[in-house]
Amino acid sequence: MIKLTNLEKIYRTKEIETVALENVNLEVQKGEFLSIMGPSGCGKSTLLNIMGLLDSPTSGMVEINGVNTVNMNDKELAAFRNKQLGFVFQSFHLINSLNVLDNVELPLLYRKVSASERRKAAEAVLEKVGLSHRMRHFPTQLSGGQCQRVAIARAIVGNPYIILADEPTGNLDSKMGIEVMELLHQLNKEDGRTIVMVTHNEQQAQQTSRTIRFFDGRQVQ
Ligand SMILES: Nc1ncnc2c1ncn2[C@@H]1O[C@H](COP(=O)(O)OP(=O)(O)OP(=O)(O)O)[C@@H](O)[C@H]1O
Ligand SMILES: [Mg+2]
Repeated sequence: MIKLTNLEKIYRTKEIETVALENVNLEVQKGEFLSIMGPSGCGKSTLLNIMGLLDSPTSGMVEINGVNTVNMNDKELAAFRNKQLGFVFQSFHLINSLNVLDNVELPLLYRKVSASERRKAAEAVLEKVGLSHRMRHFPTQLSGGQCQRVAIARAIVGNPYIILADEPTGNLDSKMGIEVMELLHQLNKEDGRTIVMVTHNEQQAQQTSRTIRFFDGRQVQ
């Protein structure tokens, strides 16, 4: 489903070279819920961004559903990403000037899905995340946990099999964090979606099917 081979990422500026990932080899199977843990700065977000085709590796191969993505151009990458992957960020990344429905419809708008189909799909996923009663609200009128559920609805509206979540509960209090985790587990167990999550929370990691640990850009466990 996701296969990374000999992955390396080096950030270079004029003066500084940072090796963010070194010789990473990883396979994520369909239906897995994988946690990525490790100290701050060890390369977790870099890895997730590369898996999610938001960033490219310096060298190595990234295969998603058997397709090697490394030689795709930006347009091909954007189309592939939009179809295959749903991203959830710690800070939600919602657009505050759009209401909940319009935020959730965005990935479908890029795919040129008709307005009525977009609306139908957005309403269905918002029902799934328990926010049917907040569809006309704006992000600033919602709690953090509700914002994250909107972001999850947006991630799944195009029906991707893979969800990538970078510290999805990092900005939430523990009760809201539990609700968001329950939702991710439901998407994994009931819908069979593959989830890769970066977390600093040991308890959350224990509840997933596998945990891998990084230190200084290398997988250590
Ligand atoms: N755009 C960038 N340019 C230069 N260096 C970067 C860039 N993004 C990340 N880095 C560096 O790469 C390393 C890994 O960063 P990354 O954001 O992947 O860490 P992380 O494990 O997600 O940390 P955290 O737990 O704090 O989110 C760090 O040393 C960081 O400073
Ligand atoms: Mg990070």
